[in-house]
Amino acid sequence: MKNSNSPGKGLVPPAMHGGNVYAAALANGRPMPKFIDFSASINPLGLPPSVRRALGNAIPFSVHYPDPYGDDLRKQIGQSFRIDPESIVLGNGSAELISFLPRALSIRHGLVIGPTFMEFERALALSGAQSTYLHARAEDRYAPPLEQVQSMLKKKKRIGRAGTNERPSSRPPIDAVFLCNPNSPTGRAVSRTGIRQLLQTVQQVKAYLIVDEAFVDFCQSCSVLKDVAKSLNLIVIRSFTKFFAMPGLRIGYVVGPRDLVTRIRCLLPPWSVNSLAQAAALAALQDLGYRRRSVALIRRERVRFMSRLKGLPGVRLFPSHANFLLLELPPNHSAARIAEWCREQGVLVRDCQDFSGMNRRSLRLAVHRGKENDQLVKLLMHALTVCE
Ligand SMILES: Cc1ncc(COP(=O)(O)O)c(C=O)c1O
Repeated sequence: MKNSNSPGKGLVPPAMHGGNVYAAALANGRPMPKFIDFSASINPLGLPPSVRRALGNAIPFSVHYPDPYGDDLRKQIGQSFRIDPESIVLGNGSAELISFLPRALSIRHGLVIGPTFMEFERALALSGAQSTYLHARAEDRYAPPLEQVQSMLKKKKRIGRAGTNERPSSRPPIDAVFLCNPNSPTGRAVSRTGIRQLLQTVQQVKAYLIVDEAFVDFCQSCSVLKDVAKSLNLIVIRSFTKFFAMPGLRIGYVVGPRDLVTRIRCLLPPWSVNSLAQAAALAALQDLGYRRRSVALIRRERVRFMSRLKGLPGVRLFPSHANFLLLELPPNHSAARIAEWCREQGVLVRDCQDFSGMNRRSLRLAVHRGKENDQLVKLLMHALTVCE
């Protein structure tokens, strides 16, 4: 008999993500704007004023279909990062592009360096590909296990699913590695040199290296965007969501070899990126002042927030190169309970237990401005006493 909870063959249930202020408002009977959201890692400076103006100016153009391939925006991205516009494909958020990548690249078995964004595993499953996780460990302060990844690739042998009796020969060899850099939810980043070393091995075994740079604007020195032009095996995913505070507009892009970009385009629905999102992204890229202010704010506030959080009894914090911090609660606490209690007080934090490879005591906290961060530290101090 069919299990009523199972969605059916070839379907994969949606993953839970941070930032669901709608569900929180419904659950708590509190209007949405009353929540302070630390669960989605969005730039606390908010939408750049230049983007607000561009959105206003673009409204009249909503009577037309959007430019199907976003030529102006791709040209601007090309100019901003000195890359070929023909190597860029836009999507309705980078999540849309991630969902098509395994099919576009004909991936059969992806190695996902975890714990990380769940949509890589989901995209692999949706396209009928297999996935294997290799997790960074809390003992290593979540430094991605790149040497292990490389030796796994070099072995080139077929591997069985960890923790099962599956015969090693039943899985195809790994043909793609997914690395999120800086990684969410851990915050750790791999240096450009580290990625280049990994890419060499990936190239030797004729696989793809897919680097998700959704948070890289906060750590530009680790971006490998420019390396795409030199390799047929490197694909970079970028998003406007986090850095330019526009999660509701939905726009991201993939940079890769031209033929792969064409293949992704063949899978996308028509007009997948609306004209308001295109106009917003175009203005955002040109706003260098916003970029400077954002990087400076996060750099400064991350250090201060971290030192305040360290004052919470028994908590452990991990190094971060992004606009969020990963915190591990003391052994007698659960992240789910603390997150629920905070939500009742109108504050959302990300309980990380549903990330494969994370424990049940981990919380991800977006870095906001000083006053809100201090408010959260106070709230967590209180939560640690009432939620035992
Ligand atoms: C690491 C990472 N990549 C990609 C995405 C998707 O972002 P978007 O679809 O808004 O571009 C997210 C969203 O949470 C993320 O955390």
